[in-house]
Amino acid sequence: MPSTSLERLPLAGSDASIPALGLGTWQSCGDQCLQAVRWALEAGYRHLDTAARYGNEAEVGEALRHSGLPRVDYFVTTKVWHTELAAGAVRRSVESSLRRLGLDEVDLLLVHWPSASIPIAETMGALCEAKRAGLTRHIGVSNFPVALLEQAVAASSEPVAVNQCEYHPYLDQSKLISACRSLGIVFAAYSPLGSGALLSDPVIRQIATKIGRTPAQVILRWHVQQNVCAIPKSSDRLRVQQNVDVFGFSLTDDEMAAIFSLARPDGRGVNPAWAPTWDGRA
Ligand code: A2P
Repeated sequence: MPSTSLERLPLAGSDASIPALGLGTWQSCGDQCLQAVRWALEAGYRHLDTAARYGNEAEVGEALRHSGLPRVDYFVTTKVWHTELAAGAVRRSVESSLRRLGLDEVDLLLVHWPSASIPIAETMGALCEAKRAGLTRHIGVSNFPVALLEQAVAASSEPVAVNQCEYHPYLDQSKLISACRSLGIVFAAYSPLGSGALLSDPVIRQIATKIGRTPAQVILRWHVQQNVCAIPKSSDRLRVQQNVDVFGFSLTDDEMAAIFSLARPDGRGVNPAWAPTWDGRA
């Protein structure tokens, strides 16, 4: 039995919550993804993050079925790709995701990236409709800077529950996190380990050695201690297990501050051609 007790973050507008630590599956596919999700469920993860674009929803669904866990025990997020944000396309995208996952509804449906050409009101309207139709329990966005997030909230008749963005100690997201807090939106961090880049950072390693934890655990503890959600990806059994074991210790204020001080202007790692104009440093 897993020993890990997952903390959860409340989702606005409902009595539901999201586990503060989930398994990221970006760049994980085929048997590797299937195995990683199985190990994650065995290790106590109850939050799986996928996307129509990742090409791995079928494997995530298969691992969930294989686990035998009751549906209420786990939280699944999927996302609609940015070229599919017109109303009819959103509906088709989520229905296809549900078919691949083998689920009647996901817990959270996100706009994967904002679109420069499809009006936010049309997209958010379609997400609200998907929620009312019972295809998802919650809706949200991903990669939305403050101004676009505010537009999404204004255009949505249902609560925008989550904004999922890149976040790790090299990338200052204080402005966006504070906007999310004001709006009652959970901030979720993808690439929380900086895609692995942070694991060899001397400050992180020094803290890890001092407290007898792994560098990844130190970084993920830094996330959850800010009440943000983190979704580290790993395809390695031991690392999957270690990454979720971050609720039995805490970092001191000085350790948190030392990690915050690692932020740097070139810290962003995910910046594709279709990315919006990002918020500057706070
Ligand atoms: P692997 O899948 O071989 O474990 P992020 O979630 O920030 O995108 O980081 C994912 C990257 O970090 C992957 O390359 C993953 O490799 C690696 N990784 C994840 N967890 C750990 C860990 N505990 N120790 C070392 N590397 C890790």
